[in-house]
Amino acid sequence: MDVSATQGELEAGRGYETLFVPALFAPWTDHVIDGAAVKDGAHVLDIACGSGVLARHALARSGRSGRVVGLDPAPGMIATAKEVEANVEWVLGSAEALPFDANTFDCVISQFGMMFFTDRIKAAGEMYRATKPGGRLAVAIWNSVDQNPAYRDIAAVLDKQVGPAAGDAVRVPFRLGNPNEVVDIISQAGFDGIAFETKTEQAMFPSSRTMVEAELRGWLPLFDINLSEEKIADVLIKSDATLSKYAAPSGEVVFPTSAYIVTAHKPL
Ligand SMILES: C[S@@+](CC[C@H](N)C(=O)[O-])C[C@H]1O[C@@H](n2cnc3c(N)ncnc32)[C@H](O)[C@@H]1O
Repeated sequence: MDVSATQGELEAGRGYETLFVPALFAPWTDHVIDGAAVKDGAHVLDIACGSGVLARHALARSGRSGRVVGLDPAPGMIATAKEVEANVEWVLGSAEALPFDANTFDCVISQFGMMFFTDRIKAAGEMYRATKPGGRLAVAIWNSVDQNPAYRDIAAVLDKQVGPAAGDAVRVPFRLGNPNEVVDIISQAGFDGIAFETKTEQAMFPSSRTMVEAELRGWLPLFDINLSEEKIADVLIKSDATLSKYAAPSGEVVFPTSAYIVTAHKPL
């Protein structure tokens, strides 16, 4: 796999880190790290690490004696992760073929990545293989788009203003909204003690424009949907009205997001 990111990939990774991570993803890290019981000295693997927010928080929890590895197939994400934190081992790779020996990690964690895996059964098998006997797994997955109404509304705006492919791209992260499907996959892989819990966290974007801009500039390009500056300006104007119901008096857009955390362990 090519390890170097193009300038465009790097900019997309930086855009993701700057726009999406603080607004949407950072609030979830404690749920996942608690779910995997990451302790001082733990050897942790974050699969689908993106720009690295979960791995960075795992590093803070595992301390100086811990070792944290973040893995993602997107060179721009890995390059951004490296820029932000040098003390995590960042690896380019996919969940379906983990480049690690069996029984390596005390904790395998992943947030908001599993819905993108091309072969979830293979990925769960790889998670199992990489986990030490007695080690723990924790995975965060969005509930359905109907349980995340701000994104349901944005998808509807994009359907109209850009086209169904753009609306569908916004819905993709919410397509694994049935926890039982994931429980089955994790169970087939051999994990024990499987449980899931639904959680709610507040998302907060500086404005509705920033929120939609995050989709247009940080997310749609991952689906090869690249809008002109003129189109972006047009969509931003048109999306303001729909999203005004989420606007706080201070101008920020604040809304609840819903996800479930699946936890399990590898039998001893
Ligand atoms: C929504 S981002 C989540 C990133 C990060 N976990 C976070 O919380 O910010 C989803 C990530 O899944 C990664 N991904 C997609 N397909 C993957 C695969 N087959 N194996 C591992 N990661 C994958 C993407 O490259 C992307 O970085």
